[in-house]
Amino acid sequence: MLAALSLLALAVGPAAAFIECNVLDYGAVADNTTDLGPALTKAWNSCVIPQVTTTVATDVLLYVPAGNFLLKSNVVFDDAKNWNLHIAGNIYLPYIPTLTGTMLTFENCQNILLNGPGAIFGNGYRYRPGGDLTLNPSRPRLIRFQNCNNCEITSVTLYDSPQFHVTIIGNDNVAHDMSIIASHIGETDGYDISGNNNYVHDVTVENGDECVTVKTPTNGFVAERITCRFTAGCNIGSFGAADTTVNVQNVVYLRRDRVQLGCRDHDQVVGIVKNITYNSFTLSAAAYPIYISAFWAGSGVDTGKLTISDVTFNNIVGTGTPTRPAVLLDCNKATPCENIKFNGVSLSNTKANTFTNACGSGVSGIPAC
Ligand SMILES: *[C@@H]1O[C@H](CO)[C@@H](O)[C@H](O)[C@H]1NC(C)=O
Ligand SMILES: *[C@@H]1O[C@H](CO)[C@@H](O)[C@H](O)[C@H]1NC(C)=O
Repeated sequence: MLAALSLLALAVGPAAAFIECNVLDYGAVADNTTDLGPALTKAWNSCVIPQVTTTVATDVLLYVPAGNFLLKSNVVFDDAKNWNLHIAGNIYLPYIPTLTGTMLTFENCQNILLNGPGAIFGNGYRYRPGGDLTLNPSRPRLIRFQNCNNCEITSVTLYDSPQFHVTIIGNDNVAHDMSIIASHIGETDGYDISGNNNYVHDVTVENGDECVTVKTPTNGFVAERITCRFTAGCNIGSFGAADTTVNVQNVVYLRRDRVQLGCRDHDQVVGIVKNITYNSFTLSAAAYPIYISAFWAGSGVDTGKLTISDVTFNNIVGTGTPTRPAVLLDCNKATPCENIKFNGVSLSNTKANTFTNACGSGVSGIPAC
């Protein structure tokens, strides 16, 4: 009995201390004037780094308490591991024409939790007066996980970034239960994600560009229960400039509401897009309801170097737009789109479908493979 008890005591050990590194102790002032950036960096260096002793991210908080904070410089957390950026307050971006880069970057990171309930207000509209995207072309982005694994972003609300909102590059990361609310204008992407086995669920995006988008390279990605308002949809690609090597495989989009979905590629890219599934979407006046293009941008040259196959659309219902087809497949001649399958696609208020260099099943007019 005694022996058993002492074993138990050893196993339990000392309780892990919960440590809070409050930015107010490192120079931050909730006056919406003092720059929060240096305080974040100082609290991280002086308080977070020395005190991380476990792999439980929530054991050490870099804490932004309730209140209004101005963030006017970029912050980079390089080699960040096993801690929690907990934003309870409101963070505002000022309009500074020279402000550029990404406001909060985690680089080479592992097991970071970024959570709310606070918010970041990007004031993007000030960088684009009258919708002018050319006035401040290098305007800032909000959040980037660069070369990061096992990270999580949740319950923080992002408003109107001057440019893209969340970029995630790495493996096994999750974004969930949060909203992005931005202007209905281009270059305001919600989530741009590449890497393996990333997961996005229960998010809402309102903007005028990508909603939840997969970039190359990706092997394994799931998005489910996502709501996209006014966005350009859930795309794969575009894949950018000539000679980009593309490899996107094993992607699933499950249940999404509103606007279009797509799978867009750039001509002159080289590579493979394979095993993609879109399930249970409700579209509302979607501009391009189902659209696969090997020629999204660029010269329209048919190089045949991009292979797209095994794409399945299940239960896609709602309305499109009278000037465009419900299903538009526009593929390379040398490497046609193969095995494009449709089940339960019912879209009204659209033009007739068009299929170019594509084969599959499930909608009338598509040639069998
Ligand atoms: C904080 O400052 C920003 C940028 O100047 C401004 O847009 C915002 O309205 C301010 N917030 C409050 C609560 O005053
Ligand atoms: C297709 O992708 C899904 C999602 O990643 C995966 O579960 C499935 O095994 C893949 N199928 C094939 C044939 O690779």
